[in-house]
Parts: sequence; C-alpha cells; structure tokens
Amino acid sequence: MPNVGSYEASLERSEALKEQLAKNPQQFRMLTGDRPTGRLHMGHYFGTIRERVNLQNLGVPTMILIADYQVITDRDTTEHIQDNVYNMVMDYLACGIDPAKTSIYTHSSVPACNQLMLPFLSLMSESELQRNPTVKAEMEASGHALTGLLLTYPVHQACDILFCKGNIVPVGRDQLPHIEATRLIARRFNERYAPVFPEPEALLNDAPAIPGLDGRKMSKSYGNAISLSFTAEETAKRIKKSPTDSERVITFDPENRPGVSALLTTAALCTGRTEEEIAAEIGAAGSGALKTYVTTSVNEFFAPIRERRHAYENDLNYVKDVLHEGIRKATEIAEATLNEVREAMGMVY
Ligand code: TRP
Repeated sequence: MPNVGSYEASLERSEALKEQLAKNPQQFRMLTGDRPTGRLHMGHYFGTIRERVNLQNLGVPTMILIADYQVITDRDTTEHIQDNVYNMVMDYLACGIDPAKTSIYTHSSVPACNQLMLPFLSLMSESELQRNPTVKAEMEASGHALTGLLLTYPVHQACDILFCKGNIVPVGRDQLPHIEATRLIARRFNERYAPVFPEPEALLNDAPAIPGLDGRKMSKSYGNAISLSFTAEETAKRIKKSPTDSERVITFDPENRPGVSALLTTAALCTGRTEEEIAAEIGAAGSGALKTYVTTSVNEFFAPIRERRHAYENDLNYVKDVLHEGIRKATEIAEATLNEVREAMGMVY
C-alpha cells in the first residue's frame, strides 16, 4: 500500500474518482484554474484542458478560474494582464469549453470569494505555511524574497476551491500540497464552526508530462512550446528549429535522444499513434522527415481549434460577455457561501 498523501496514493485515488465521475457526474463540482501569464500551449491542452472538456461534457458542473491575483505571488508586474485574460478565455472556448455548461471567471472580480481568506488564514499556522514545498520551489525560481502573498497563496487557493464547494480539482502533481492545505482548512472550519465545506480531492492526470520540443517540460519560458494561438507557419518554424541529434535512424529513446523523442511524442499525441510506430515508419528518412510529419500532425490536429479561435479573436465583445456572465455566476455562488460562513461563525448582525 502506498503512503497516504503520497503521489502514488493520489494517482490511485484519481483512477477511482474517474469511474465515479462517469457514473454520477452530478455529485461533483469541478473547479480548476490557470494563471494568466501567457497563451495556453499544447502542454496545457493535452495535460488538462482536454480532460476538462470531457468532464464538462459528461455533465460534471464545472467552474474555470483565471487566477489573476496569483500572477503577483512571485512577480512584481501585472503587465499585459487584461490581454492575457481575454486570450485565455479565447483559448478555453476554442478548445471546447462551453459557457452554457461552464463558468469562466477571474477571481479578482469576486470579492466574496477573496473575503474567505480572513477566516481561512486563522486556520493555518505559520509553520504549516512555511513547510509547503511548492511555495518554496516557486520562491527559489522567482529569485525574489518570499512575499506575504506567495507564502499565503495556498490559502487563497483554498478560497478558490471552497467558495463554490468544489469537491474535485484537476491539477498537476505540483499542486498536491495546495489540495492538502485546502482539505485541512475545510476540515478545521467544519470542526470549529459548522459543517459547511466538502474536503476536495485532486484529480491527477495519468498521462506523462508533455515534453517541450527540446525534451524538457513544455513551458513558454523555455521557448519550447507550441501555443494554441500559433499559426501553421509559426508552428512549422518552431518545429524546424527544435534540436535533434546526429543519428540518422529515428528511434524512440527519451533518455538518450530527448529532442527526437519529444518530437515523436508530440506527433503521437496528435495522431493517436504510438511513438514506436511513428519512429519505425520514418526510420532512415531521418529528422527532416520526422519534422515534416510532426508539423503536419500538429497543424491538422489543431486546425479546427485555431479556426474557432480566430472567430473569437474577431469578436472580443462576445469574449467579454462570456467572462462577465461567468463572474456574475461566481459572485452569486460566493455570496451565498460567504453568508453560510458568517452564519456558522455567528457573525450575523
Ligand atoms: N495555482 C495554480 C497554478 O499555478 C492556479 C490555481 C489557482 C488553481 N487557484 C486554483 C488551480 C484552484 C486549481 C484550483 O497553476
């Protein structure tokens, strides 16, 4: 038996949850979010967006948060934030997030959600906050001193999840400590005052991390990502520049041939074929032929998504309407929850 709380345990639990989600979608409320720091890329799409669309279409009530306040946890600018937020809505819609089923909103626009921060902060000790490994890693990566917001943002994330009584949270492995903090906060609030909150569970993706074109994790900051908003030409250019090696015959070997293998995985994701099958087919035709194949696969797969995205780019008013309606719904839910919280705490005057 894996340790409770370990990655393996979470993965096992996620598999069980997936079965329940398919059987009883209405018992769940799914909440996920992304920071609006740039355009969504293929890593986001195959890592989580595709799964969110599936669950939405299964009938799981869904909310998608654009976590704008979290942008300033480890950086000192909100430059381009409005543009990033609108573009993120376009990316979601283009990928199949349906505003009739899913609310998309920014948390800075929902004061009642943010107000949960005060009672929730009182439920965590300083040393519990200091121990969070993801916070530590983000602080080190930022090169900044630990800000008060970075230290307490897992508590803010608990507000994001609990304001709508979210009980299922699709996240990557790095977010598990925050889900643990959220569960702790829910439990402590319920014990101290009255049972208001569910203890949410993480839904981990079992797909391996999506490699960027150089074999490292796909990330905008590494310049190895293919954004959903790229044109076919930009995609071709980025793939053409991706690093391969001097071995002619194409084989799938992520350890020793990270560049070639990342290209194979990219094509595999877009075609539904296996890396080995594609490698065998290309064989001695070499990396030029592989790149041509990858470019075609990616551009064919994303063509309909990109076409929809263009339509939204030309209709910013619609994009804003979607966001405003999402904010309206989130506000309604947050106010109801905040009222329950005030009542549970006896703060009714
Ligand atoms: N912290 C998440 C990230 O960095 C974004 C996020 C904010 C989030 N609030 C959330 C994710 C609530 C899931 C649930 O990607």
